[in-house]
Amino acid sequence: MKLLENKVSLVTGGSRGIGRSICLALASEGSHVAVNYASHDAQANEVCAMLRDKGVKAFAYRANIANDDENHRMVEQIHKDLGPVSILVNNAGITRDRTFVKMTYEMWKEVLDVDLTGPAMVTHEVLKDMIDNGWGRVVFMTSIVGQTGNFGQSNYAVAKGGLIALTRTLAREVARKGITVNAVAPGFIETDMTAEVPPQVLDKVREATPVGRLGKPDEIADAVRFLCSPGAAYITGEVINVNGGMYMG
Ligand code: NAI
Repeated sequence: MKLLENKVSLVTGGSRGIGRSICLALASEGSHVAVNYASHDAQANEVCAMLRDKGVKAFAYRANIANDDENHRMVEQIHKDLGPVSILVNNAGITRDRTFVKMTYEMWKEVLDVDLTGPAMVTHEVLKDMIDNGWGRVVFMTSIVGQTGNFGQSNYAVAKGGLIALTRTLAREVARKGITVNAVAPGFIETDMTAEVPPQVLDKVREATPVGRLGKPDEIADAVRFLCSPGAAYITGEVINVNGGMYMG
């Protein structure tokens, strides 16, 4: 018997990068997986094929997590296809970087909508089922930036910091219902998101990281896999740093 046999996981932004690794890690433990994504159908379908090769059920769900109607329809459809969600990994996220003085209202709002309100509302959609079933795992993907701040990322830092506050609040509210709520805070990980960062900045990141390199998506997925496992039942409201020692909170 695998650790997450017959559980149903929803991973937002599961079509690539960290989310894709998380989908694969959860499927390796026997969980069926709903792969949410924003726009690239082919990528999402490719991930589903890889998940099915592991012997689990997997479907792709195109939905903008910043849109409440789309979230509602997605969760309803998952319910029909796979059953109630028992593991939610709020992984999807975006950046729109600029110094605060030059940041537009639209850039601020877009990041807050996708990176903070979106994860909160997807969680809102699935929490009732978790409560009814008396078991659940919620993981928020925050960031080192939500803890330390970062030049040019006021919108992103506020959203990711907000997720930490939400983690601690929700953890208290649902702890007696068999549900844990935790956050994973990656440092700099090799994905499409960091591919946009100038090489000289990444060199500085490597210098500032005790482990001396960027992280890999699988290294984040392993932390998520642990938090979702039955053995992590006594860990809640926690932020797990996976950052090569760059920030030790
Ligand atoms: P990525 O850019 O490679 O992938 C993001 C995923 O989110 C994609 O699947 C995309 O389709 C999805 N997505 C974006 N907007 C969406 C929306 N409105 N609705 C539904 N899905 C949407 O990103 P990466 O690097 O894999 O990051 C994943 C998470 O980890 C994000 O929350 C990011 O903020 C966080 N993170 C990443 C770090 C890094 O160094 N790559 C560092 C710290 C945190």
